[in-house]
Amino acid sequence: MSSPASLGEGRTPLVPSRGICSRLGLAELHFKLETVNPTGSYKDRFIAAELAHLAPRAPQAIMATSSGNTGSALAAYAARYAIRCLILVNEHAPEGKLLQMRAHGARLVRVRGFGSSPEVTQQVFDLLRRFQAEAGLPFVVSAYRYCPVGMQGVEDLGRELVEQTRGAPAHVFVPVGGGGLYTAVCRGLRRRWPVHAVQPEGCSTVVAAWRRGDDAIVPVTSTTRISGLSVPFDIDASLALAELRATGGTGITVTDGEIYAAQRMLAELEGILAEPAGAAALAGLLKLVEQGIFDRGDRAICLVTGSGFKDPESLAGLAAAGEELMVSLGELPELIRERIRS
Ligand SMILES: Cc1ncc(COP(=O)(O)O)c(C=O)c1O
Repeated sequence: MSSPASLGEGRTPLVPSRGICSRLGLAELHFKLETVNPTGSYKDRFIAAELAHLAPRAPQAIMATSSGNTGSALAAYAARYAIRCLILVNEHAPEGKLLQMRAHGARLVRVRGFGSSPEVTQQVFDLLRRFQAEAGLPFVVSAYRYCPVGMQGVEDLGRELVEQTRGAPAHVFVPVGGGGLYTAVCRGLRRRWPVHAVQPEGCSTVVAAWRRGDDAIVPVTSTTRISGLSVPFDIDASLALAELRATGGTGITVTDGEIYAAQRMLAELEGILAEPAGAAALAGLLKLVEQGIFDRGDRAICLVTGSGFKDPESLAGLAAAGEELMVSLGELPELIRERIRS
């Protein structure tokens, strides 16, 4: 059931691939378009559930940490509940996400090293937990470790996949930062299907442990610039690792360049405008296909977790080769004749 402050999150479309499927010679590929959620990412599912849970306590203010999308969602939904929010944001959060948060009236603080240095990131979390205890303010992080009720809202994503495919099993590809999303999808699917975890090479916590075959999540100094996937220590990574082993999925790492290339393919071959993190799942599938590990006859689903509008810098990269002209009215007829010919 939707929460009282719902903006229409969830129930997102599962659309068949056109260009990429035929180019790769795959039997079936679908994209789950989380981009169409109200603030442009799957995080709306989390925030809608979390705020419905917190609302009866009537908090005056909420503190949160965010790489950008949790903050965008929180800022929008908190505006509906008339709750003030203070959001501590990753140093390298993209402009689109920062503007979204500010437009809804959230107070933002960007912290140097937050999201890349494991020490700084841990200390920010510890500090906020202290304030949470002292001031009794809710502390929102999109992870089971901090907000299990909100994360249950994300599990709907997995349940929707079962409904939308009428239970026909598929290989599901999920981008992994802190690991909460991956865990939620596996739980929503009740671990019935293989779910593959895709991380950037520059911030591989879960996949590195999966490859080593042990249970230790080793903190890393993150070098990836993919907003949303730069979580340098264990928030929900241990949970995600356990799910990865339980579903029999594969741990995949991809370079930032491979993620940007997948983002371009989505834009040019599918008409889907994703932010880079939203294209990481596809980059993971492309890697398995390239390595000959993925059976082209199997069904695949890639989550597209966030909208391209959130990251104008990467959008500018995609648009660089496109044409945009300014002409006078007198020049227009000749230009139209010329352009419709080729
Ligand atoms: C667009 C997008 N995709 C994927 C993720 C990864 O989610 P998690 O940190 O729960 O692994 C995030 C996290 O911020 C995100 O914003």
